[in-house]
Parts: sequence; structure tokens; C-alpha cells
Amino acid sequence: MKRTLGTCYYPEHWPIEIWEADARRMKDTGLTWVRIGEFAWSRLEPSPGKLEFDWLDKAIEILGQAGLKVVLGTPTATPPRWVVDKHPDMLAVDADGKPRKFGSRRHYCFSHEGYRQECDRIVKLIAERYGKNPHVGAWQIDNEYGCHDTTISYSDAARNAFRVWLSDRYGSIEALNRAWGNVFWSMEYASFEDIDLPNLTVTDANPSHILTFRRFSSDQVASFNKRQTDIIQAHSDAPISHNFMGRITDFDHFKVGDNLDIATWDSYPLGFLEDRVGADDEHQRAFARQGDPDFQAFHHDLYRSVGKGRWWVMEQQPGPVNWAPYNPAPLPGMMRLWAWEAYAHGAEAVCYFRWRQAPFAQEHMHAGMLRPDNADAPALLEARQVADELQSAPEVSAPQAPVALIFDYDADFAWATQPHGAGLTYFQIVFDTYKALRKLGLSVDFLRSETRDFKGYKIVAAPGMIYMPQDLKEALAEADAQVVLGPRSAARNADMVIPVPLPPDFPGLDITVSRVESFRPDMPIPLKGGGNFVGYREELEGAAEVLFELDDGQPAAFQSGNLIYVGGWGDETALQRLFSDVCSTAGIATTELTGGVRCRETDGHRIWVNYGSTLAETPAGTIEAAGVLFEPL
Ligand code: GAL
Repeated sequence: MKRTLGTCYYPEHWPIEIWEADARRMKDTGLTWVRIGEFAWSRLEPSPGKLEFDWLDKAIEILGQAGLKVVLGTPTATPPRWVVDKHPDMLAVDADGKPRKFGSRRHYCFSHEGYRQECDRIVKLIAERYGKNPHVGAWQIDNEYGCHDTTISYSDAARNAFRVWLSDRYGSIEALNRAWGNVFWSMEYASFEDIDLPNLTVTDANPSHILTFRRFSSDQVASFNKRQTDIIQAHSDAPISHNFMGRITDFDHFKVGDNLDIATWDSYPLGFLEDRVGADDEHQRAFARQGDPDFQAFHHDLYRSVGKGRWWVMEQQPGPVNWAPYNPAPLPGMMRLWAWEAYAHGAEAVCYFRWRQAPFAQEHMHAGMLRPDNADAPALLEARQVADELQSAPEVSAPQAPVALIFDYDADFAWATQPHGAGLTYFQIVFDTYKALRKLGLSVDFLRSETRDFKGYKIVAAPGMIYMPQDLKEALAEADAQVVLGPRSAARNADMVIPVPLPPDFPGLDITVSRVESFRPDMPIPLKGGGNFVGYREELEGAAEVLFELDDGQPAAFQSGNLIYVGGWGDETALQRLFSDVCSTAGIATTELTGGVRCRETDGHRIWVNYGSTLAETPAGTIEAAGVLFEPL
């Protein structure tokens, strides 16, 4: 597959006189794609029913004539003022019961039917007009669902829709009361109409109630998205995408992905390092200008799975951004490295955000490929280099990896509902596992939790998957792979209740989690032979073979057949030890990688990247700072 580059462009921000020159320059830089339109509602429909599409016709024509392909966005992330005035109760409501105001973006509630109808209307107009336009090569629905904490809304619209959703799911109020254990604290309901949203309670709401509301909120995102994809599909054959974000886990991306042709995501490595990676100060200093060496790859692999193999980077950081605690400039070479790393993980396209830095509004401190005065910015030069390299580059495709990690958004909702200890999150335990695997030089695939066929994988890990349906347990127990479970795997039933027999209750694995504890992260519990459990551990009983012990001789991990259960949150050393052992049992060769060096195997090559700021050695040779190395296999 031919890899491509692109950019994000806002013709409505610039005088029409410069559009042609912009388009020519994009083409000369070697770009293929230009994404437009995703925030342009106020210019397409300045007042109710007054349509002004001529400028968009012209923009698409100019870009297309220059030889570019357009990704056309639906503008529903930014309903203009008049839409809000028409539907004042469409605003999302925060957990304190306060409506979120107009004046930025993503201010809508996913459940508001009036707003959904406004979206249907504008999307239909756009799809009818541009559905067969030869220059429109792909679509983007909305923009970054969930960004700015916008998945969950405590509005009246959400409450009403939640009641209907609950009644469909539970059938009778008695069944719901039983499933949630509402006899506790006299929380029993007489009808679905009694059920409110789980905010503003005196102390904690019932975790079953919270988890169920999170599931509902996630489904609302998927159904909101599907209404738009249905409309576009009726008018266009071009593939449909949505641009997901980094470390947003409060809706099920796989369910949204079910109705997309391509998953894309927005990769801001330096912003994320400070704001979402969860790294200590030393790590942040070491990688301040490069980003975390695993965070981008994690999302590349995750979204490859969400996109059923088809995925892009829709927004690639082009220089300093405006929104992180600090906003450093990338080390020279990083904007090239990030693109090559994405291709190594199977990206079809990498688009830099944005074409020209805007001198106005919220993002005027955000770099672009051009400066506001139109001069080339460093991103443009690095993109041009990538474009030149792509001419003669080898074909890159991502084959099945030997190792799979299950990523289950529902488990993330459950951890968020009941973390059990400060700072404990599902994302972090999966990310820690991923990092350990990558530092052993392994390529990793993500699997959604509905997967039952594990053919071809030598290792499958499912840390922290709190609820595991019985048929998943059976499929894992029967898999050819070494299966790594725990902590907290299968710890609750589907309604967030402790099951009896006690967890993990896996076929063929004779162990029981008899007690769990969380503790301060600065009180690590040492393992015999190196490494620690940090923040969380489980006491285990059972007859299976003990694989690891705590310093005091208590069992820390058990193995029986292909099933391994780990009773705690391992630190870096513990996870490296564990997975080196598992790899040798599974017959997988490993290479320990240090500093910022990482690799990914493609068909025909191993592609090495160096996130470090100094020269580094790899088994394939020396690699410069911010460098990329292609090792033929
Ligand atoms: C993304 C968003 C873009 C822009 C960018 C700035 O989250 O999709 O519209 O705001 O961040 O970094």
C-alpha cells in the first residue's frame, strides 16, 4: 500500500485569493490529503436555513484541481450560536449540574434528540451536495468525540434516554434492583421513571448505577455517530472516518469503529507526555522534545484494531502546541520520525495539523506547517523530507504480531467507577504491560474483548479486564497462546458485583483471589528475584504452580497449563521479568531495548526509531537522535 501525507486546512480562515497558492504549495510539498470543514457550520449556515455552500464548493474545486484529495468533515462538533438558542437544553451538563456554555466547542449533549435532528439535517445537506464529488476522497464525522471531557452529560435529555435504555436492558425494575443490589441503603426503585443520574448524591452512588450510566453514555456516542454514517453512506461511497484522541477511554471506540471504514487519531506526542502519559519528572525531562517512546505506538496499534486494519494519523503535531502545561518545540527530526513510526505500525496516511498557524483565537499559539506570515515552518520541511523518502521507500505493512493485548473499554469504565486506590486506572495497567512488551523488542496487536479466536498469537494478555464473560474465559483457556491474566481480571460480574465462586474462576486455573488491597505507591511490595508490586495487590490461594513469590514467600503469580495469573500491579522490572519468562515459554525471541530505542516489525523490515536525544546502538546498527533505521529482514 502506498503511504501518504496530508494536512488540515481551514479555507474559511483565509481570504479566497490565497487558496490556490495554498493548494499548489501543499501539492509541491508532496501532500495527498487535505481535511477541511469540520468546524465550519457558522459559515455554511449562518442563520437557520440560510445556506452558504458556494465557498465550500469553490474550496473543494481548487484543492481538487491542484491534485489533492479532500477529507470532508461534518461540522457537528461546533454547533453555532443560533442552534444553541433554538435548543437551549442541548448543552451538555457537568457532574455538578452546570450546563457547559457556548463559546468554544463540543458543547452538545449526545442524547439531545433536537440536536441530533439538526445534525441529521446539516449532514444530509452536505452529503447530498458532495457525496459524489470526485475530489472528496474520504469523510470525517464530527471531531474528537469525548475530548474536553464531553462524553458524559448529566442533562435531562440524558436522564430520559437513560431510563429507556435501562428498561430495554433489564426488562423489569425488579431485575434491575436485584442486579444492582439496591436493597443496600434502601435504594430500591419502583419504576424506571424513578431512576436519576448518578451525580450530586450525598456520598458515592451505587457503582452498578455509575458503571451502567457510563455504558449508556458510551452507547450514545456510538448511536450519535451511526446516524451520521447512515446518512453519508446513502450518498457516497467514499470511506468514513472519525478522529479519535489519545487516552480518551470513556466510550467504546470499537463500537464507534463498527460503523467506520477508517479509524484515525490525533497524535500530539509532546502535549501528551505532560498531560496524559503518567510519567515522572525525570522521564518528562528526558523526552520533553520527543514524546514518550511508547505512547504513540500504543495508540497506533489500538486504532489499527479499532479500524479493523485501516487507520491514519489525522492530526500530527507540527511544532509547539498551545494546550499542554508547557509547550516545547520538537527536536529536529521528530516530525519525520513520528510519521515513519506511524507507517511502521500500518498507517495509511499521516496528516499534519495544521497547514498555517492561525494568528487569531484559541489556537493562535499552535504551530502549523506554515508560519502566520506564510513562511515555511520546520514541519513543512520535515513533511517534504518524508514525502521525498516515500517515493523510494519500501512497501510497509503491519503483519499479525506474535503478542496480543486485549483492550476493553468496558473495563476502563469499571476501573473509573471503582479504582480502589488513588491513581489506579485500567489504561495505565494496559499501557504498562504494553511498554514492557515493547521494551523486549516485540510487536503487539490489540484485540477487542469480543474476540474469541486467538489463532496465530503466542501470547495473549488481558490485565485488569474486570468483567470477563464465560465464553471468553473458555476461549482463552483453550487458546494455543500463553495467556497472562490479572490483576483484577474477571473480578466482577457484568453488574459490578463480586461473583461467587470468588474470582478469577477460570476453567483449568485452580486459584482464588481471597483478599485485595491498595496501598501508597511509595510502599512497594518486593518480589523475590527483583521488581515490586506497586499500589495494588491480591492475596492468592490455590493449587496451581507458583510462578513468582513475594519476598516474604507468599505467592505472587500462578501458572496452570497456558494460564498465568498475576496477583498485583508489577513495576517495570517485575513486568519485564514476567514477560521475558513468558516469551521464552512461548518460544519468542526478545531483545532488551533501553532509552528511547524501539522497533516494529513489518513485512520485510524491522523499523527502528530513536526517541532519545543522543546517538544510540541497536542490533541493526547505530541510530542518530530522532533517527529512523530500516533493517531488512
Ligand atoms: C485537536 C483538535 C484540533 C485542534 C488540535 C490542537 O485536539 O482536533 O481541532 O484543536 O487538537 O492541538
